Amino acid sequence: MRNINEDTITQAVIAAMMDCRNPRLLTVMTSLVQHLHSFAREVNLTEAEWETAIRFLTETGHITDDKRQEFILLSDTLGLSTLVTAQNNAKPTACTESTVFGPFFVEGAPELPLGSDIANGACGEPCFVSARVRGLDGQPVAGAAVDVWQSDDEGHYDVQIPCASGEHTHRARARFHTNAQGCVNFRSIVAVPYPIPHDGPVGRMLEALGRHPWRPAHLHFMIVAPGYERLITHVFRDGGPYLDSDAVFGVRSTLVADWARHEAGAAPDGTHSEVPFYTLDYDFVLNPAAVGEVQA
Ligand code: BEZ
Ligand code: FE
Repeated sequence: MRNINEDTITQAVIAAMMDCRNPRLLTVMTSLVQHLHSFAREVNLTEAEWETAIRFLTETGHITDDKRQEFILLSDTLGLSTLVTAQNNAKPTACTESTVFGPFFVEGAPELPLGSDIANGACGEPCFVSARVRGLDGQPVAGAAVDVWQSDDEGHYDVQIPCASGEHTHRARARFHTNAQGCVNFRSIVAVPYPIPHDGPVGRMLEALGRHPWRPAHLHFMIVAPGYERLITHVFRDGGPYLDSDAVFGVRSTLVADWARHEAGAAPDGTHSEVPFYTLDYDFVLNPAAVGEVQA
């Protein structure tokens, strides 16, 4: 294999993978090489641009650690996460739509009894959330694990807040289990719009492209129940900014809900709220798992 040139390089790389024994890997890598080379040809990629791209990816790697996932931000802001989510989560229209996972989910959030306050020191106006989980047949799904997570009123997730001890404190996140009626309810803080982390290479990319880093106000949910597909989604707050310009392209109209504001007074948990508060009521509809499908 000598004297490879501009016209023969693509075939040469593909031929070099001929002995790959993993058929899916071969399919994916053959297509990747073809598209990458087509892209370089189409834009006449210069050596300086190639170096800039390598530097950008190197910085993306350097800023990534167990608390900061710049590659997910890159995938999200380029729309790849929404594309992959959409093409892997086709379901009947009556089911709740999926949207991007984002980088701020944490395994092992505290399992709390229904009615708990999940804020645990995260600041914001009170919000009482009540959700119902059911199947396509309308039957309640009891015992579903419902993970919820959100930012505080300054737009920070707990994992973004440095702490002296190095021990991460769970704030504004928890796991619940639906009751026999398929319901969960809890107290939290009202979601607000926030910018995705933009002090790194992805932020500089957005800036160079004339894009903003903001996401509309939302609350994340992950719902897992035997016999159903796992649902990863958000509920967005109607009426707020950025619903039509989400930096990560995650908004679906069916996921936008009314977060009702109430003056100080009797709260849904039977207490008296001294300050105005919000309520959110939302129904989730799960898709049955395909026969034989293993739950994540
Ligand atoms: C989030 O909603 O938590 C999120 C999603 C994508 C990128 C950054 C944050
Ligand atoms: Fe978020």
